[in-house]
Amino acid sequence: MEVYLDNNATTMIDPKVLDEMMPFLTEKYGNPNSLHKYGSATHPKMVEAIDHLYTGIGAADEDDIIITSNATEANNWVLKSIWIDKILNGDKKHIITSEVEHPAITATCKFLETMGVEVSYLEVNEEGVLDPQTLRDALRDDTALVSIMWANNETGKIFPIKEIADICKEAGVLFHSDATQAIGKVKVDVKEIGVDMISFSAHKFHGPKGVGALYIRGGVSLTPCFHGGEQMGGKRAGTVDVASMVGMGKAMQLATNPMAIAYEVNHVGMLRNRLEAAILEIPDTIVIGGTENRTPNTTLISFRGVEGESMLWDLNRAGIAASTGSACASEDLEANPVMNAFGSDSELAHTGVRFSLSRFNTIEQIDYAIEQVKKAVERLRGISSSYAYSPKNHVSGLGAH
Ligand SMILES: Cc1ncc(COP(=O)(O)O)c(C=O)c1O
Repeated sequence: MEVYLDNNATTMIDPKVLDEMMPFLTEKYGNPNSLHKYGSATHPKMVEAIDHLYTGIGAADEDDIIITSNATEANNWVLKSIWIDKILNGDKKHIITSEVEHPAITATCKFLETMGVEVSYLEVNEEGVLDPQTLRDALRDDTALVSIMWANNETGKIFPIKEIADICKEAGVLFHSDATQAIGKVKVDVKEIGVDMISFSAHKFHGPKGVGALYIRGGVSLTPCFHGGEQMGGKRAGTVDVASMVGMGKAMQLATNPMAIAYEVNHVGMLRNRLEAAILEIPDTIVIGGTENRTPNTTLISFRGVEGESMLWDLNRAGIAASTGSACASEDLEANPVMNAFGSDSELAHTGVRFSLSRFNTIEQIDYAIEQVKKAVERLRGISSSYAYSPKNHVSGLGAH
């Protein structure tokens, strides 16, 4: 059996999304900026796609949603534009983020530090989320931006995003949130929260790869991402990838309507809980960060005595795809930085396996995965000389069994 449980890395494109895209990869190939009928043939579906994006995240007419190539681009754009506008050409010096952001944020911040920007990487608590007081304490008069993720890619932990937005508003500081792991898993409503900017990527919610967006609240101005033509109101020049934009719009509609979110919470959540509960019956396993306030599809489990990478290979041989840490970083065997940030002991940091489900998983797949995980742990612990079960190891403050 093949079981794909790595949906936080990327998702299968929904066949309905592909159907919407196909005409724009074949006969409707016009450039949307052309005045002839080939150009105008692209317009209705582009408008529809934009409508789906606005509805999906609760944006208003005066706001912008700028199509980018992915969340990485959107995150880079926000940080570098704030640097140019408010630090190089303004009187601010400081950016606040958390220590558990995706590298699309942290690596960009590290780069900005080499340019003289002062960055605070806020610590998370033992549950892996930011304590709002930590943010209050870190804000300075010269803070230009706060960038804190909506939900964490490794643990699925949902951040106290409303409180963070309120603190930023009170302090008069712009608030950006990387919502890449939240869209389609929990309700993301930019107005309800009061966030100034959010980033996301379509391939995380059953859309195509290579397309994402930056939401920018009306009234917030950013230096353009790319200079060139007048596409995207001159904010991101370059001929729009119509097929991808149409695909992202459809994917957004399918993933964020209230019934879809209810399905995610109830059905996908039930599958995740079934998997997790069965795995936690294995001695010396814990859920990193605990089980409260998570996206319904994700669990990050540590198997003491079992190297995460070895576990992945065993599972891979059995037809199961899971992950240790960020997909982009999994080629090196460095301990997962998110797990280190939790203050996990160094062994735990090397023994985490992330299972991330989607609406396309079935109960049969989950039961097969449970069986294979149990076999893999037994085999790998059997050959590991360093692992010795002790009842003490079975209890950890970090997670719930
Ligand atoms: C939270 C988060 N932000 C940003 C990204 C980057 O997404 P992309 O590679 O589509 O740019 C990811 C991908 O894993 C992510 O999980």
